[in-house]
Amino acid sequence: RDRQQPARVLNDSMGDTDMSEELFEPRNIIVTGGCGFIGSNFVHYVVNNHPDVHVTVLDKLTYAGNRENIAGLPADRVELVVGDICDAELLERIVPGCDAIVHYAAESHNDNSIADPEPFLRTNVEGTYCLLEACRKHDVRYHHVSTDEVYGDLALDDPARFTEETPYKPSSPYSSTKAASDMLVRAWTRTYGLRTTISNCSNNYGPFQHVEKFIPRQITNILCGIKPKLYGDGLNVRDWIHTEDHSSAVWAILTKGRYGETYLIGADGEKNNIDVLHAILEGMGKAADDFDWVRDRPGHDRRYAIDSSKLRRELGWKPKHTDFAQGLASTIEWYRENEQWWRPAKESTEAKYKAQGQ
Ligand code: NAD
Ligand code: DAU
Repeated sequence: RDRQQPARVLNDSMGDTDMSEELFEPRNIIVTGGCGFIGSNFVHYVVNNHPDVHVTVLDKLTYAGNRENIAGLPADRVELVVGDICDAELLERIVPGCDAIVHYAAESHNDNSIADPEPFLRTNVEGTYCLLEACRKHDVRYHHVSTDEVYGDLALDDPARFTEETPYKPSSPYSSTKAASDMLVRAWTRTYGLRTTISNCSNNYGPFQHVEKFIPRQITNILCGIKPKLYGDGLNVRDWIHTEDHSSAVWAILTKGRYGETYLIGADGEKNNIDVLHAILEGMGKAADDFDWVRDRPGHDRRYAIDSSKLRRELGWKPKHTDFAQGLASTIEWYRENEQWWRPAKESTEAKYKAQGQ
């Protein structure tokens, strides 16, 4: 296999792309951040769909990580290593012999990055650097999970959506550290020939999402008898994708993606915040105006929108969860049924928001 570029020649216009071929067949993967929201959903996805793959989860178990997220998965398929991606000695112990690292671990919440950017610099930038160095030393394939926020935002009336060619223009401390980490990946690819891919995905929803994030916060507020909180004028647009579709896209990129390439992941799910909130209120039997307007997020990005045609065309990926109302209803149901999972984080999260006027 050509180390700079997988062997497959892509030629869609000739109709000769074999979408079913998997070019890279990992058996042992490390999933960083596998006890967080999206990482743990990916671990479940791999266990359920790829029986030959063993997963080592490397997770520091910060406030956002929860070992319960992967509890009950077979011990011979999933191992949890509690540790920091910035710990080079630990990486030296677990990276040799693995086939790939799929890197989800991050400080992921914009509001936290505005209150205190330091952990974002450390985990998102230095942590990525440590993983890249470990991959370089041990010749390990690396997939980097990033965000559409690196592209900044779009106006509400802009007909454009983000593509792989959109220039980087991050707005928040969070998104600027993610952008920096993407740049490190590109440099390590070009300079050292590392076998990498990058994916930039839009807003995820689904089970196991921390109660600090928009959708779980509003659902659990209602379950607690607290009014939902809407920032600014409520017209900011996010492009929602179910987290299981994010997982299938990452798997497709890991196994079939061309080295050195970036793929945008999105499911054509643009909605403004007030419409999403109205859907939650209606789904939970509340009046449409039963919420509080609160202070806006400083530097709040107006709109994100993903054009995922490269991923669909080259790798044959498509989302399964195309009915947002149905996906939201099952997410509401999941939070209703799993109060013991979210309850311990609820009070402190709301106290933090309250102190910020949100
Ligand atoms: P999350 O905050 O729910 O989980 C992050 C996980 O990383 C936690 O388990 C935490 O314990 C772990 N972690 C944090 N610092 C660590 C460190 N130094 N060493 C080891 N583990 C550490 O995040 P998420 O929402 O699941 O996001 C996962 C990834 O996906 C992030 O890279 C994020 O930028 C990206 N992403 C998220 C979204 C979204 O909508 N949430 C969309 C696109 C991309
Ligand atoms: O686009 C991908 C990004 O999506 C990821 O990179 C981030 O890790 C992830 O957190 C998410 O970022 P957002 O800032 O878009 O998500 P959040 O859930 O924080 O907010 C979604 C929208 O809802 C945003 O416009 C702010 C608004 N909001 C948020 C909260 C928590 C509210 O109106 N009220 C709230 O209480």
